[in-house]
Amino acid sequence: MNGSTIMIFTGKGGVGKTSLISAHALTSARMGDRTLLVSADMAHNLGDIFEVETGGRLTRIEENLDILELDPLRIMQEEFPQVNRAVLEMLSGKKSVPDAAGRFMVPGFEDLFSLLKIKKIYEEGTYRRIFVDCAPSGETLSLLRLPEMLSWYIEKFFPVGKAMTRILRPVSGTLFKVQLPDGGAMDEFSDLFKELNALQGILRDPAVTGVRIVCIPEKMVVEETKRTYMYLNLYGYHVGRVFINRVIGEQQGNAFMARWREIQREYIDELERVFSQIPITKIRWHETEICGRQALMELCAELPGPDELFAAADGDAGETYEAEGDGYRLRVALPGLAADGSGASAGEDDGGPEVARFGRDLDIRAGNCLRRIPLPDVLRQMDIKEVRREKDALTVLFLPAGAQ
Ligand SMILES: Nc1ncnc2c1ncn2[C@@H]1O[C@H](COP(=O)(O)OP(=O)(O)O)[C@@H](O)[C@H]1O
Ligand SMILES: [Mg+2]
Repeated sequence: MNGSTIMIFTGKGGVGKTSLISAHALTSARMGDRTLLVSADMAHNLGDIFEVETGGRLTRIEENLDILELDPLRIMQEEFPQVNRAVLEMLSGKKSVPDAAGRFMVPGFEDLFSLLKIKKIYEEGTYRRIFVDCAPSGETLSLLRLPEMLSWYIEKFFPVGKAMTRILRPVSGTLFKVQLPDGGAMDEFSDLFKELNALQGILRDPAVTGVRIVCIPEKMVVEETKRTYMYLNLYGYHVGRVFINRVIGEQQGNAFMARWREIQREYIDELERVFSQIPITKIRWHETEICGRQALMELCAELPGPDELFAAADGDAGETYEAEGDGYRLRVALPGLAADGSGASAGEDDGGPEVARFGRDLDIRAGNCLRRIPLPDVLRQMDIKEVRREKDALTVLFLPAGAQ
């Protein structure tokens, strides 16, 4: 930890991620803090919003604010050739041999280099805040999953993390039934493994990295937003704020807009149930699109003050999942909840929070509060076996139907 922080923005395409992250970056820079805004979305448009030509290079926007549109292939070739070789070695013989341009044939894989670059910038400590503008939700989730997935792969097939590589190699044939690559390549593996672990450490440390979700109050977006949030929790990322963008204000009135406002109300209610533990900021639908610094400044004025805006998450991801037996234990942070010590079986009424399924979600009702938790597919097919109250949290054990 070096005092720098990373803020990742995600959400469905077109909901306003780039606009909002740019407003954040501008706010940060104008507080006098060195700020970098990076785009990890291949469809870069930071240059457009700030009305500058970046040519893919680090570009100064104003005092304290730089922007950078990442090009993973260039980063791979120029900055991480050794990682490139290690990964190629790992996948050699598979269909991932690079083409003539050195391009990976495994889709999405090159994005790893965007993450490694962000890690490098973080470690250099030049910037107080690094904002990362991501591609639409699905791709962001694959990106955020990459470090874990890759280190799992390395650990499974090349157990470099378990012991010193050099000691391991002579016995690997008998112990692990795999032929480890020669010393040079193994060193690269071992380095990559360490890099990936460090990267996960940085991304999952709530004091360093926070995620912001942007959405708009429309059915398809709300559903995707719930899923994104669920996966972020599942992967151990900390969501610190949700933005509901393009909200139609009371003053924006005529019969047509009034109808839309009603529709939006319904989805805003749903979002407030799902994100009841997380600060929500609504952003009004502006009269024109958000382009250039003037429009961005107007957007900045709608954001909460910097203390709130840049506050680190409180460490407890809203919901976490841990494997237990053949199932999973879901842990839901409910600040203020007293522990009951023993486990109460599902459905037993002890006056505490009530847990019930609602379609694809789980509803937790405590007093007048309803918290709606989108469930991963794997849990939807399982039964609730136990609901337990802990201090400031509720846990729910899911086991496969029929299991004891
Ligand atoms: N609150 C808003 N009011 C009006 N237009 C908006 C608002 N937020 C975003 N826009 C416009 O919507 C379009 C998509 O926004 P953008 O920030 O590029 O979304 P994303 O990065 O999520 O794809 C842009 O033209 C932008 O100017
Ligand atoms: Mg964008």
